[in-house]
Amino acid sequence: MRGKTVLVTGSTGGIGKETARALAARGARVVLVGRDRRRADAAARELGAGGAAVSALTADLSRLAGLRALAAEMSARHDRVDVLVNNLGGMTASRALTGDGVETTFATNVLAPYALTCLLLPLLRAAPAARVVNLTGGIRGGPVDPSNLEAEKRFLGWTFSQYNHAKTALMAMSRRFAARLADDAVTVNVAYPGHAHTPGNQAMTAAALPYAYRPLAPVLRFLGPRLLNDLAKPARSSVYLAASPDMEGVTGVYVDARAERAPWPAAVRDESVCDAVWDRCERHSRLTP
Ligand SMILES: NC(=O)c1ccc[n+]([C@@H]2O[C@H](COP(=O)([O-])OP(=O)(O)OC[C@H]3O[C@@H](n4cnc5c(N)ncnc54)[C@H](OP(=O)(O)O)[C@@H]3O)[C@@H](O)[C@H]2O)c1
Repeated sequence: MRGKTVLVTGSTGGIGKETARALAARGARVVLVGRDRRRADAAARELGAGGAAVSALTADLSRLAGLRALAAEMSARHDRVDVLVNNLGGMTASRALTGDGVETTFATNVLAPYALTCLLLPLLRAAPAARVVNLTGGIRGGPVDPSNLEAEKRFLGWTFSQYNHAKTALMAMSRRFAARLADDAVTVNVAYPGHAHTPGNQAMTAAALPYAYRPLAPVLRFLGPRLLNDLAKPARSSVYLAASPDMEGVTGVYVDARAERAPWPAAVRDESVCDAVWDRCERHSRLTP
């Protein structure tokens, strides 16, 4: 990864930070992103302590203005981006809109990676062979209802929660993005990290869990820090897609927590789902690759 510029979103803590650590250790020039200046600077100092080239930017990536500001800052500082890891994601307990009027789960898990990839395309295209890595999560592969992408009908609280729904929509968007960039030297792939005890999980209340899991919340809170504190493991699939020579020129694939290729779920292979998610992203962002 020496000489390569890597941007990892949501990387001042959690899985993103471990992904950034692993890529910096391979010699990449890594840019971290979080919302908080102090946490961002502290993470950059920690990851750069051994001499690695790590810097940090701040932006609220749930908002289009934040995504635009980050892309502008990257353009001002770098002449290309070799790897973009759209690691940021998250869940909410109930339906809420961002200041842009976008449902929050959709905004952070689907719209942010779509818009940031569009905004950074000039820098990605400036790299000889660029890679975009998007992170999925939850129970992947449930149905996607194109008329409920932003919980317009109801905020899903059962096993196929709004978060799972959004992550499957992200996979559909990624698969379509890969097809749209088929003639470019820019690949788009999806990683599933597996579970980890991260700041996002720690902040999660029982209400954000699918109903079936809510009674388990105290157990999860007890076991999480004991069983799921090795964050290098969930970073493995992203690092594989970002750095492995096996992935050179490979686009439109999905890897599981063991960094092994897995088939796209049926909803992701449904072109009408891909169309609906893509149209929504275009409409909200007013961007197209
Ligand atoms: N953890 C799991 O068990 C798990 C399982 C499956 C999939 N995943 C997926 O893996 C990815 C990483 O998960 P994680 O649990 O490590 O996430 P996390 O703990 O929620 O991530 C925290 C990072 O995201 C930043 N962040 C949060 N909101 C932001 C915003 N609006 N704009 C910019 N930065 C923001 C935080 O920085 P600041 O607080 O400083 O802003 C911090 O750097 C996500 O896509 C998640 O859905 C996680």
